[in-house]
Amino acid sequence: QGLPGTKYERTFMMVKPDGVQRQLTGEIIKRMETKGYVLVGLKMVTPDEKLVSQHYDDLKARPFYKGLVKYMSSSGPVVAMVFQGKGVVDYGRVMIGVTDPLKSAPGTIRGDLSVDVGRNTIHGSDGTSPAQDEIALWFKPEEVADIKNCASAWIY
Ligand code: TYD
Repeated sequence: QGLPGTKYERTFMMVKPDGVQRQLTGEIIKRMETKGYVLVGLKMVTPDEKLVSQHYDDLKARPFYKGLVKYMSSSGPVVAMVFQGKGVVDYGRVMIGVTDPLKSAPGTIRGDLSVDVGRNTIHGSDGTSPAQDEIALWFKPEEVADIKNCASAWIY
């Protein structure tokens, strides 16, 4: 299920509070769907500090960590998503751009939609192992749709 390297590979993405407030959720979903990725999990969540800390556990030692956790847990809802498709983890990151929106190429989500590293609109899992961990952290198994036969074999 969701096996990396297959057309059922899955990644976790999240529209951050700035993206939700700026009403960019539809734009972001549209970009992913238009590419050919399938939305298999979707919910609006107002995460508490515990959930955000778990999500960003690997950044604990970084100077921006405290502000990041505060921002993400006290700025209203985020939109948590699971996308499925061939190469979605790595190519999803290409579509997002790099961490700093001002260093992200035009055509990427951050490059087109953001200017501030601390308000960079979207999160996407950085690798297949984090993707699996993050999907499990944000979604119950039954909240992710088991979509396998929605398209012909040649439609990705
Ligand atoms: P990181 O996991 O390094 O980046 P990415 O989201 O591209 O995988 O950092 C997580 C988030 O922390 C990042 O999206 C925005 C925030 N952040 C800052 O606020 N300041 C910084 O200097 C960095 C590197 C990240």
